[in-house]
Amino acid sequence: MIFLLNWSDISFLIGRMHPLLVHFPIGILSLAVIMEFGSIFFNKKELGKAALFSLYVGFVATILAGFSGYLISQGGGYSDEMLTPHRWAGISLAVLNILAIVLKTVFREKSWSLKIYLPTLVILLGVVLYTGHLGGTLTHGSDFLNVSQTGQTNQLNVNENFPLSDLPRPEEAYLFNDIVQPILHNHCGSCHNPQKRKGGLDLSTFSSIMDGGDSGPLDVNSISESELLRRLEEPLSSDDRMPPKGKLQLSNIQLELIRWWVAEKYPEDIQLKFMNLPNNIELILNRIDDLNHPVYSNDKLPHVDETVLTSLRRKGYGVNVIADGSPFLEVRFKFKKGETPDEIAEELKPVARHIVWFDLSGTAIKEADFSQFENLTRLNLSQTNIGDSVLKNIASLQNLEYLNLHSTQISSEGIQQLATLSNLKNIYLWNTGILPEEADWLKKRLPETEISLGVTDGS
Ligand code: HEC
Repeated sequence: MIFLLNWSDISFLIGRMHPLLVHFPIGILSLAVIMEFGSIFFNKKELGKAALFSLYVGFVATILAGFSGYLISQGGGYSDEMLTPHRWAGISLAVLNILAIVLKTVFREKSWSLKIYLPTLVILLGVVLYTGHLGGTLTHGSDFLNVSQTGQTNQLNVNENFPLSDLPRPEEAYLFNDIVQPILHNHCGSCHNPQKRKGGLDLSTFSSIMDGGDSGPLDVNSISESELLRRLEEPLSSDDRMPPKGKLQLSNIQLELIRWWVAEKYPEDIQLKFMNLPNNIELILNRIDDLNHPVYSNDKLPHVDETVLTSLRRKGYGVNVIADGSPFLEVRFKFKKGETPDEIAEELKPVARHIVWFDLSGTAIKEADFSQFENLTRLNLSQTNIGDSVLKNIASLQNLEYLNLHSTQISSEGIQQLATLSNLKNIYLWNTGILPEEADWLKKRLPETEISLGVTDGS
């Protein structure tokens, strides 16, 4: 049934065979080296010939293994830090293999040939084993893939899965009560409560937190010496680390929120709307706001199978659930060297109702039926060749809140369609055929919507 598979499936299959294929060069080349030394030791010419034959076969096996390795690496998911040495070791192996063959055939008669040939074989054997070892750590020692679990990266990834929260609209929320307290409760409460005060510390109420533990109360005036923050920022391997290794760690977002609370000198009852929000915090809060959308509380939708997500990722779509435990998906297109989709993949159709955030900006897409994505709340089509005809099936998306159409072919003919999108909060129309007076017309129909026309935007 191979003929029914397309290239990306085939390459995936070949890539999947890498862990199997790599055993051939390891076995064959090791045997070649053993036979060569055996032929010298026992003075058996036949063994030498067999060694040469094994070097040829080993070379073919190395190339096959290398090719499958290349394909599997294209699927992503491996850290470059680990992948690069493995790849170069594999390439060196092929080069040494050719060198050995050339020395044994072309330069066989030369007096110096053997002096180089034998050390080459020894190095070849070493490189075979080393390449295998690097490959092994790459697949099995996969701890390095879980950096975000340690909370140690300083880069903020607002797309990381954030547990669905009961946070009221963020601007109404209280920093301590609604944000800090629940985090401490979930991640620290099992060891730091009034009954079980590990380290003398009870983290259950504001005043008990301020009382501190064995090392004394929290000092509001020396933030930089915050014992609380220091413990959270200790490396995972440290004995001082909180929560201790093996316990449920804070996500980067949660850590960032606690950092902010500490930097603000541990305020107790202040609402976010009265605070100055740093950029990173604003990003996070927008994200939480997004997660509060009523659409996302639909619990009838089944979860998408992980294998479906994996196959979509292979097609170049960045697909993630919007929050832990949610059936809803966020989909982006990840660019692969100028390759962009010009239509919506068939594979997305079965999960159409799951997709709530869809980013196709900058792709070659021209026409698509978006009405199937009935739960979409955010759609980004900026910098595409999308034209007016697409708008009529966008018009039925009643949950849509964010629509980005900047730098597209949209014109005054299409704009009428948008007037039905009464839940729209933001629409971006700059660098399109829409004139300011047409935007004004839309504004009258959608008074709650922020319409952005770029430089000519009068508001
Ligand atoms: C599995 C149990 C456990 C969890 C969960 C835990 N801790 Fe601890 N914590 C301890 C123990 C045990 C100590 C005392 C030993 C030490 O000082 O390392 C301690 C000590 C501390 C101290 C030092 C108190 C002082 O004054 O010396 C701080 C601060 C702290 N934890 C904060 C936290 C925070 C914040 C969390 C949640 C993010 C947390 N811990 C989660 C067990 C835990």
